Amino acid sequence: MKIVVFGANGPTGRQLVRQATTEGHAVTAVTRRPEAFPPGGPLLRVVGADVHDPVAVKEAVAEQDAVVSVLGVPFGRKPVTVYSAGLTHITRAMAGHGVARLACVTSTSLSDEESPGEGLFFRKVLEPFIVRYVGRTVYEDMRRSEEIVRDSDCEWTIVRPAGLFDAPAVSAYRMAAGPRLPGRFTSRSDLADALLRQVVDGLDPRAVVEVRTVEGTPGFIDILRKEAMGGKDR
Ligand SMILES: NC(=O)c1ccc[n+]([C@@H]2O[C@H](COP(=O)([O-])OP(=O)(O)OC[C@H]3O[C@@H](n4cnc5c(N)ncnc54)[C@H](OP(=O)(O)O)[C@@H]3O)[C@@H](O)[C@H]2O)c1
Repeated sequence: MKIVVFGANGPTGRQLVRQATTEGHAVTAVTRRPEAFPPGGPLLRVVGADVHDPVAVKEAVAEQDAVVSVLGVPFGRKPVTVYSAGLTHITRAMAGHGVARLACVTSTSLSDEESPGEGLFFRKVLEPFIVRYVGRTVYEDMRRSEEIVRDSDCEWTIVRPAGLFDAPAVSAYRMAAGPRLPGRFTSRSDLADALLRQVVDGLDPRAVVEVRTVEGTPGFIDILRKEAMGGKDR
């Protein structure tokens, strides 16, 4: 299968590219910094593009069978447009080239429903504080991107992970289109596999799915410290 990955140079994107080429898929990895992308063998093509550039996005999507978006930006005060502009240009490019299958990442924090076993402090204090203050501009744009994807004619799947952490291998994770799953963490390896399974195996079209890692999850404080300090493993 020919798969184009936007956000390929992020920690989840790099795992996804590795997993996909190992499975024998031909991958187009899109990044603004192609010179910084690690070598990946004959099945890998690295393309330099900013998703705010519709022409560059359209070129990257040409002749592909499926699209995965793991685009992301850190929390900050500046307005964020990468998710909404990215998914606008990606879905238009897909329509223009007749490419149907799309899987894209947002976050479980966009869910309006309570997840099983969720503590009151997390649900009522910590998560709202992150969504409404610390990460407000990111979550607002993620939400816009979900609307753009739902309104598109693509065979889309929105994949929502919980708090991300790095793990050495894919585990026996859970993925479901609802009701909500318990747990607070998703490893980037599991998220990458979930996205790949969605587009390669044609699971859950036109659905929002959650992904949760159930074994080897870290402590909450460890994660906060590591992500806040930008210490992601690549
Ligand atoms: N951290 C968490 O706990 C958490 C929880 C739930 C969901 N998520 C979401 O999960 C996804 C994956 O996260 P991650 O940590 O693996 O990746 P990430 O660090 O958010 O990076 C994704 C990549 O997107 C690319 N990108 C950003 N702006 C771009 C632009 N204008 N044009 C093209 N590419 C652009 C960047 O690559 P280049 O600089 O090379 O272009 C970056 O490496 C993100 O959407 C994130 O928001 C994260």
